[in-house]
Amino acid sequence: MATPHIAAEPGQIAPLVMMPGDPRRADRIAKDYLADAQQVSQVRGITVWTGTYEGTPMSVMGSGMGIPSISIYATELYRFYGVRRIVRVGTCGGMASSVKVGDTVIGTCAHTNASLSTLLVPGVNLSWAASYPMLRGAMDAAQALTDAPVHAGPVYSSDLFYLGRADIVQGLTALGTLGVEMEAAGLYAAAAQEGAEALTVLTVSDHLVDGSNDMTAQERETLYATSVKVGAAALLA
Ligand code: HPA
Repeated sequence: MATPHIAAEPGQIAPLVMMPGDPRRADRIAKDYLADAQQVSQVRGITVWTGTYEGTPMSVMGSGMGIPSISIYATELYRFYGVRRIVRVGTCGGMASSVKVGDTVIGTCAHTNASLSTLLVPGVNLSWAASYPMLRGAMDAAQALTDAPVHAGPVYSSDLFYLGRADIVQGLTALGTLGVEMEAAGLYAAAAQEGAEALTVLTVSDHLVDGSNDMTAQERETLYATSVKVGAAALLA
């Protein structure tokens, strides 16, 4: 039985799913990192691939951009396909001065300006947290895989890419927020709602405060490989 947004049959998606934002990146991760990858769904340009990673069944699927997009896919994966763990691999804008372009940021929790923090339990602003076993797996792997700095801490999942509010960036940075992206809170909320697990592994692609340069093409390739390996380690932990 397909869902409104995924056309795979039950059993065609592995319990462990890697989720980049860009659907073409999902195609590439499947080709470069999965053995025997098969396309099991293709709806609205979002392809789902299933194969094995170091012998363990794993699927890869793009999330699209923003909390609504990732929360639709994550909820359907958890609820209808028996998925137990999703790792988002993506990029973020650096916010903290300790975080530099090219570093890795692992989102232990996600602040958001999206309504989902206040929608689910009346009168409560919920906090959205990563899976601790996945976080531990990612940190252990990252230490072995890369000499580049790896930071673990809060990220900000913004509903607006073009926010244009320095006061919000300043306030969040003063409270220890490491970087800004647009999906982690939606993924963590879906995991909480479905009794499943999630983690976000981000490469810092630009910096909102320190004006540092964007990455070179070579740096992008190396860091992309690192985030896939750290993400896979979190799924397998
Ligand atoms: N804002 C939101 N999402 C992002 C950014 C940003 O600056 N950089 C990478 N993803």
